[in-house]
Amino acid sequence: MKNSYARSQIVIHWLVLILIVVAYAAINLKGFAAKGSPERATMSLIHYTAGFSVLFLMVIRVVLKMRNSDPDILPAPPRWQVIASKSLHGLLYLMFIALPVLGVASLWFGQVAWSFFGLPLPVAATQNVGMQHSLKELHEIIANAGYYLVGLHAAAALFHHYVVRDNTLERMLPAMRVKKSVK
Ligand code: HEM
Ligand code: HEM
Repeated sequence: MKNSYARSQIVIHWLVLILIVVAYAAINLKGFAAKGSPERATMSLIHYTAGFSVLFLMVIRVVLKMRNSDPDILPAPPRWQVIASKSLHGLLYLMFIALPVLGVASLWFGQVAWSFFGLPLPVAATQNVGMQHSLKELHEIIANAGYYLVGLHAAAALFHHYVVRDNTLERMLPAMRVKKSVK
């Protein structure tokens, strides 16, 4: 019986968390820098780069999810909790794939030039400011909802670990993959 997510899934799960924290931090810190300053441009670039990296990793996660079955939670939680957690996971996948796509599309329509690790990204042949703003607004709505959903997700994980005391969190921790020898 599997008692843990695959190592690749664990590594990418926590890497995505770090990148999401960087993306949120950079865009919030940007507000403290003066308009037109190099610091502001740097914060934007960090935001775009971390956010776009999340897209790649989330797509890889979907592939890994399809290839690997989920490890069992012991003791098994009630059915409503299984449905609630699977729904929230699905929503997190959708949100953190949609967010970077909307962000990139908004820059594309706004003809905002930017580069991903030095690779220049293409922009639309003609500028469409209306589209740029609509996509940006949708991006911001989803991004702001993300704070609450990630918070809820993390709180649920901690609740399972400290209150229910099942193995939900341990299944997502690398150290737990070490096989215990049976005496
Ligand atoms: C995990 C991925 C991402 C997260 C969590 C995220 C989050 C956010 C947040 C919290 C805001 C500010 C919302 C507000 O002010 O109410 C924002 C704004 C914005 N984001 Fe993202 N974002 C992500 C990816 C991206 C990507 C990949 C791009 C483009 C390459 C992008 C482009 C933008 C733009 C253009 C804005 C408008 C604000 C500005 O430029 O100052 N985002 N994002
Ligand atoms: C401190 C923050 C976080 C903690 C403590 C945490 C904890 C966990 C735990 C324990 C699981 C396994 C749950 C289960 O199998 O029922 C899990 C799965 C998952 N987490 Fe997180 N997580 C955090 C942040 C995030 C973030 C930022 C995302 C955003 C993409 C995320 C997305 C997911 C998804 C989609 C799953 C389902 C498993 C998979 O398909 O990979 N988590 N998380």
